[in-house]
Amino acid sequence: MRAEHPAPPAAPQQQPQQQQWEDRQHATAVAHPNIALIKYWGKRDERLVLPRVDSLSMTLDIFPTTTRVRLAPGADHDTLTLGGRPAEGETLRRVTAFLDLVRAQAGRSVRAVVDSHNTVPTGAGLASSASGFAALAVAAATAYGLRLDATARSRLARRGSGSASRSIFAGFALWHAGPPTAATDAEADLGSYAEPVPAAGLDPALVIAVVNAGPKAVSSREAMRRTLDTSPLYEPWARSSGDDLSEMRAALRRADLEAVGEIAERNALGMHATMLAARPAVRYLAPASLTVLDSVLQLRKDGVCAYATMDAGPNVKVLCPRTDAERVARVLRGAVPDGSVLIARPGPGARLLPGER
Ligand code: PMV
Repeated sequence: MRAEHPAPPAAPQQQPQQQQWEDRQHATAVAHPNIALIKYWGKRDERLVLPRVDSLSMTLDIFPTTTRVRLAPGADHDTLTLGGRPAEGETLRRVTAFLDLVRAQAGRSVRAVVDSHNTVPTGAGLASSASGFAALAVAAATAYGLRLDATARSRLARRGSGSASRSIFAGFALWHAGPPTAATDAEADLGSYAEPVPAAGLDPALVIAVVNAGPKAVSSREAMRRTLDTSPLYEPWARSSGDDLSEMRAALRRADLEAVGEIAERNALGMHATMLAARPAVRYLAPASLTVLDSVLQLRKDGVCAYATMDAGPNVKVLCPRTDAERVARVLRGAVPDGSVLIARPGPGARLLPGER
């Protein structure tokens, strides 16, 4: 048991509202995963989770994570349950490190009880860490009495998992890598956050072929590190990704789904090429992933606007017009009868549950 005592002073804009501590003991937030159409791959600063490249994603309307954070005065450590089961080891250590950031900003030291429910298979390249840390950022900031706007929530979520910075926002979001030569940690941190990108007139779906829902063999953190350190293809991809982003933004502005899909697919294949050229190689794609890619090619030959993207796992997500989603899903089910196929649409940003502040 230990009493709460003030932690080191917080940054000026994050001063705690002391009189409101007592009634801000808990909060519950919901966040959805996002899938990048321009990928984040590679960190320039691992501690601050600063990426090498800008990225752009679509937040989904399926697979929400719901996370409740309750302050536990007197407890001498944080506790975490995932889907009702106590979590320990690296998972708990990551959550505690994240809560330490929140506590530093709030100028508080009280420990917390975190209870999180994922509906997405954890660790299968389906962005469970994005929804997980976005929900945790919103719930923990609120429980600890921090008043953060969406940009500050995005920066905070980034520290848990880079892609989580984008799940703060609904629909399409752009995560700025930030200035590569910031003078201080604080300046570097301020410059790297996501913001919403308007995409009026687009009516897309993302058809997700889950070919393997098991955890991945190599974590995205380790795979990024290895790619950056050893892949001769990394720098060329990072440069071309900047061009992809400019073209993607223009395609979104003119609501050109064909161009959005084409750019997304080449960006993702390029990212996987960087990993295949790493030493030793990182290969997330499985034979079933390639079967799905063949089906996507065939769909295009048959006149359907369908383009694929893949993350740090074997599952394939296919972007298409909402009106073609059922047809695409039928074709993918035929291609991978042992997998499962789901249809997602643009979804909401991270939010507190009603009744919570
Ligand atoms: O889950 P993270 O934040 O460690 O990174 C995952 C990166 C990719 O999913 C492969 C690409 C992306 O931009 O989400």
